[in-house]
Amino acid sequence: MMVMLIPVLLWSFLILLLLPLFLQWHHSKDKRFPPGSMGWPYIGETLKLYTENPNSFFSKRQKRFGNIFKTHILGCPCVMISSPEAARVVLVTRAHLFKPTYPTSKEKMIGPEALFFQQGAYHSRLKKLVQASFLPSAIRGSVSEIEQIVLAFLPTWKYATINTLQEMKRYAFDVAMISVFGENQHLEMEGIKHLYRCLEKGYNSMPLDLPGTPFHKAMKARKQLNETLRRLIEKRRESGKQEGGLLGVLLGAKDEKLNDSQIADNIIGVIFAAHDTTASVLTWVLKYLHDNQDLLEAVTSEQEGIRREIIEANRRLTWDDTRRMPLTSRVIQETLRIASILSFTFREAVEDVEFEGYFIPRGWKVLPLFRSIHHCADFFPQPEKFDPSRFEVPPRPNTYMPFGNGVHSCPGSELAKLEMLILLHHLTVTYRWKAMEDEDGIQYGPFPVPKRGLPIRVTPRPRNKLTH
Ligand code: HEM
Ligand SMILES: *[C@@H]1O[C@H](CO)[C@@H](O)[C@H](O)[C@H]1NC(C)=O
Ligand SMILES: *[C@@H]1O[C@H](CO)[C@@H](O)[C@H](O)[C@H]1NC(C)=O
Repeated sequence: MMVMLIPVLLWSFLILLLLPLFLQWHHSKDKRFPPGSMGWPYIGETLKLYTENPNSFFSKRQKRFGNIFKTHILGCPCVMISSPEAARVVLVTRAHLFKPTYPTSKEKMIGPEALFFQQGAYHSRLKKLVQASFLPSAIRGSVSEIEQIVLAFLPTWKYATINTLQEMKRYAFDVAMISVFGENQHLEMEGIKHLYRCLEKGYNSMPLDLPGTPFHKAMKARKQLNETLRRLIEKRRESGKQEGGLLGVLLGAKDEKLNDSQIADNIIGVIFAAHDTTASVLTWVLKYLHDNQDLLEAVTSEQEGIRREIIEANRRLTWDDTRRMPLTSRVIQETLRIASILSFTFREAVEDVEFEGYFIPRGWKVLPLFRSIHHCADFFPQPEKFDPSRFEVPPRPNTYMPFGNGVHSCPGSELAKLEMLILLHHLTVTYRWKAMEDEDGIQYGPFPVPKRGLPIRVTPRPRNKLTH
């Protein structure tokens, strides 16, 4: 009896042991990965992404494989997403399954406690604080301050040949500084500016931490910046005066207090997020207005209407004035669409995910392709045409995301639009500009901008065109 039972027991034991393995094997055979080519192992399609124009890289694959396809970039399997509904799932409805992901070198330079890198409870607490300091109600009082910056910059451009991108960076940087530190600029500001510039030089360098490399120099500046900010935070804490700006809001955080690293990393994070982005968009606005002179004249007459009222009432430009610039606002909207300076963003699946009928394994990157959606003829007819009038009607839901969507969407969108409107107000009524490059072209640094940063020659607007 016992002798007969042993093989039966053995078999049952074996089956019990192997069944889960078998089921798992069977199950994974059912799993449907998104279509697409993974390229050569490891090197993947990275070489192709770098040697081809990124737009054609994406559009070729989209044509071949559809709106969801897989590829390999820098050794990571990736899923590219260019349908508005699927992008919404990743960024909004199932955002908890897709965490933001950045190269560790970026995280080290900006600071690991910054908003971009976070998820969950700490992220949402911090996000509320950052959003609060950039709401329309919080920034409407900064209009005069920003206007002062514009009025200091513009005369330095007169009769000069300037690099538009570089000048716009300086402008957007100054605006970022007052929005972060408040209107009372301190002695420390020059030092902070200088250190930030050193840090910035290393942002897109190879993350090689050896003496003499740009990355090493950047990290050194980051440490000094840390120290300067720590002293500033200490001073403000001791004086009991939090003062304005994002720093004031972060210092005043109730409930759990934020520690020095959390404050410093987020200050640097916001300066980083605020200025190259806005400067690149402004550079494109000047390019498109230059290439569409009729539009430039129409924008100018909208701005002149407001200027005339301001002069008659003997007052300054206000927040409410900036709400009465519909054409100029549409020019900005259309520039954000056509230039799509953030072509896509990176997420990473935090667990195995069933997604639109496909299987995405944990750890795979997922990239919503903003640019592909913004350039899809189904949503934006004749997508390569610069046509602000298309925004006379609102775009279809989830098809227009220049500031992202969902929990990680941009808290600075209103500030970015405000500083563009204020600059365009004074620029269009007072000056004209001529592009010094004959040929169009795009360069990536890392955001797409017109070739060589759009060198222009700025002259006063001819007097006879002024309407009194
Ligand atoms: C035209 C200029 C700008 C554009 C096109 C832009 C675009 C974006 C986009 C698309 C995202 C989302 C990224 C993602 O989902 O992965 C984002 C996030 C962010 N932006 Fe902007 N941005 C601009 C200006 C600004 C300004 C002026 C600020 C300053 C307050 C700012 C601060 C941030 C921050 C802190 C985040 C991270 C939010 C989070 O992770 O929760 N941005 N931006
Ligand atoms: C900044 O200083 C804090 C201590 O105040 C430290 O924990 C943190 O690692 C420093 N960060 C950098 C980037 O040096
Ligand atoms: C601040 O808090 C974070 C998160 O709890 C922690 O990782 C970091 O080391 C803290 N930094 C300092 C300087 O206390």
